[in-house]
Amino acid sequence: MTTTSTAPHCHIAMIGLGVMGKSLTLNLIDNGFHVAGFDLNSSNIQQTTQEAQIISKGQFVACDSLEQILAHLPSPRVIALSVPAGDIVDSVITDLLNAGLNPQDIVIDTGNSLWTDTIARDKHYQGKLNFFSTAVSGGEQGARFGPALMASGDEHAWEYVKPMWNAIAAKVNQHGLPVEPLQDGEACATFTGPSGSGHYVKMVHNGIEYADMQLICEVYQYLHQVIGLKAEHIGDIFSEWNQGVLNSYLMEISADILKQKDFQSDQPLVEMILDKAGQKGTGVWTAINSLEVGCPAPSIAQSVYARSLSSLKERRQLGEQKLAVITETHKTEALSTTIAELHDALYCAKLCVYAQGFDLMKTTSEQQDWQLNFAEIAKGWRAGCIIRAVFLQSITKAFEADPQLDNLLFDQHFGHEIKSRQLNWRRCVANASLYGVAIPGIGSALSYFDSMRCATLPANLLQAQRDYFGSHTYSRIDQPESQKYHVEWSHHPRTEIKK
Ligand code: 6PG
Repeated sequence: MTTTSTAPHCHIAMIGLGVMGKSLTLNLIDNGFHVAGFDLNSSNIQQTTQEAQIISKGQFVACDSLEQILAHLPSPRVIALSVPAGDIVDSVITDLLNAGLNPQDIVIDTGNSLWTDTIARDKHYQGKLNFFSTAVSGGEQGARFGPALMASGDEHAWEYVKPMWNAIAAKVNQHGLPVEPLQDGEACATFTGPSGSGHYVKMVHNGIEYADMQLICEVYQYLHQVIGLKAEHIGDIFSEWNQGVLNSYLMEISADILKQKDFQSDQPLVEMILDKAGQKGTGVWTAINSLEVGCPAPSIAQSVYARSLSSLKERRQLGEQKLAVITETHKTEALSTTIAELHDALYCAKLCVYAQGFDLMKTTSEQQDWQLNFAEIAKGWRAGCIIRAVFLQSITKAFEADPQLDNLLFDQHFGHEIKSRQLNWRRCVANASLYGVAIPGIGSALSYFDSMRCATLPANLLQAQRDYFGSHTYSRIDQPESQKYHVEWSHHPRTEIKK
């Protein structure tokens, strides 16, 4: 292996030169930084070396040991890890410590780590190194030409990392719209706060991503299976929607996918793809977190269930034979009416998904005392990340106007947006039910909305049920909530007891 110099002239080291590590490295080189790289897999090092040389000779230093990596970095050393989340992170850090890492050296975990692991690591490595994290969104292309970065940890470490992250991150112009790579603009690199918060924000980003993808899939299924439209036609509809309020990366790629023909048959490619969804776990983490903190995110949870249901292919095949279905078969709506209803349902449901995600972040931020800045988070998602969408500019404005906004749906602009489209949303949910198409994302979002706007829910009966069989007590509406009551349900005459 060749190294060009042993002087500590590199700005940063990248450990792990797989798809993401290599792309981040090349992006750093594009932006004028010198990078020392290491990977246990020599072909990854060779590949990165070759691609780096095409951009600029001498900015990438391929290293064959961690000791060499350390020798190429001035103090405090800045070392990014691009390795799979989990135990590997700790094993690489242990090797770095054995190689001579100093307590002031900054180690950045750029993987999709579980946020509570990040907090635990921060504590565990106190005094041994400065543990920092940066969650990266945008996949391979994002990492290469402009990702969204969610950094957290020590503020002092951020000062060292910030210039590099600001340089490589995706940028937006003064209207909040993405600009081309290497063009000037506001960087989508957000320092979210204390350790763990960046990975938490990325986890919620992925929860929103899951739900947003699911909503689009539901519209596709409705148009394809109920209305009988061809994939290409649906792709055209999505392209048109992508010109308006639904403009987003996920809308754009869905339109593109639907217009793609299979490489072997003349069918649309999408119809040749097995309908079993994979998942790596971040959606499940978000759903679990919402249940644990008691902050409802039903559409996010439903999108995880939808992936689980999709993977039960054999059982669904059996269900198709065994379960009798009685649906409305007579469709009276014009196609243009159905398309308008689906458009509005998708938009309203999408707003509810983002409202759930931001509400979840607000709840956890308060519990962890992170003081997350939601306007900054929304700003940081306007480019580079998978959920980038034009309406993140309006979300930014909503939180700039009221940083403590209780729920995104309470913002005046979004309140108006939903009001004007609500009836179409309801018609879409009603029709989907009549025609027998499952819309767990769009439907659960409507139930979320209807619960959110309902001052009185039937939990009064539920509390009575709990008291009936378990003496769990209840509060009365005409007494302070802290005062609990219980009825001796099995006694006659029944009496109410103050607890
Ligand atoms: C991103 C993505 C990225 C990845 C997900 C996919 O922001 O760039 O979210 O992190 O695509 O991990 O997750 P699933 O495999 O669970 O769909």
